[in-house]
Amino acid sequence: MHTLVFATQKGGCGKSTLAAGIALAAQHAGHLVRLIDTDPQATLSNWQSRRLAHDVVVDSVHEAGEIEPELRKLRREGTDLAIIDTSAGMNAATRTAILCADLCLLPTRPSIADLESTVTTLRVVRAARRPFAFILNQASIRGERGNLAASALSREAEHELAEIVALPFIASRNDHQDALAAGLTAVEYAPDGKAADEIRRLWEWIEARLQSRLEQSAPTDALNDDTDVPWDSCL
Ligand SMILES: Nc1ncnc2c1ncn2[C@@H]1O[C@H](COP(=O)(O)OP(=O)(O)O)[C@@H](O)[C@H]1O
Ligand SMILES: [Mg+2]
Repeated sequence: MHTLVFATQKGGCGKSTLAAGIALAAQHAGHLVRLIDTDPQATLSNWQSRRLAHDVVVDSVHEAGEIEPELRKLRREGTDLAIIDTSAGMNAATRTAILCADLCLLPTRPSIADLESTVTTLRVVRAARRPFAFILNQASIRGERGNLAASALSREAEHELAEIVALPFIASRNDHQDALAAGLTAVEYAPDGKAADEIRRLWEWIEARLQSRLEQSAPTDALNDDTDVPWDSCL
């Protein structure tokens, strides 16, 4: 089982929207997916209650100590992709989720305030030594802002851009908002639309990234990893 964690300090960057979108894209690609909502605002849990289909289960888990048992349960049940959506800010539940991640996904809008706010999350992800990638979300369709933001993120993270900025950039499109309101995601709401196409390609990028990590080294099982994480350095 792989675990993806959507995390960023700032609210409104698209964590919940992308977590649901990627869950459905992965499910359509044949994976058995479960969502874990650790955000007291309950965006995903509310979204699920608007869904007519009961195909994707969202489990609410708010205590940090419940995350690992929940992941173990999902693994036992045969889930092959667990996606954890976290709240804005940084708290114990988000830190624990990050520790359990095979890949941390940090959505950010391509604006200076959003880019700056990725620093805190990045610091925690790095202290936990988890693989990560930024997702540029709500990008403008025209102009260079997305590319400039991607370069800035790559400099900030001191990594090759191709390694840590997921592709494609996700444009700002009404389909995401309309889909969420209807208890759907873009890939279900308008399967032939551009928003759906971007989300499917984003899932392919994420899947390839998870795969390349598997090929590079035996996967670290975060749940059995007793690495001492220097949390003090993240505060
Ligand atoms: N790519 C996008 N295009 C248009 N609206 C988006 C996009 N991504 C997110 N949104 C909207 O932005 C708002 C905040 O997104 P949300 O996923 O709730 O962010 P977060 O979980 O990070 O707080 C929601 O209304 C959502 O529908
Ligand atoms: Mg959210």
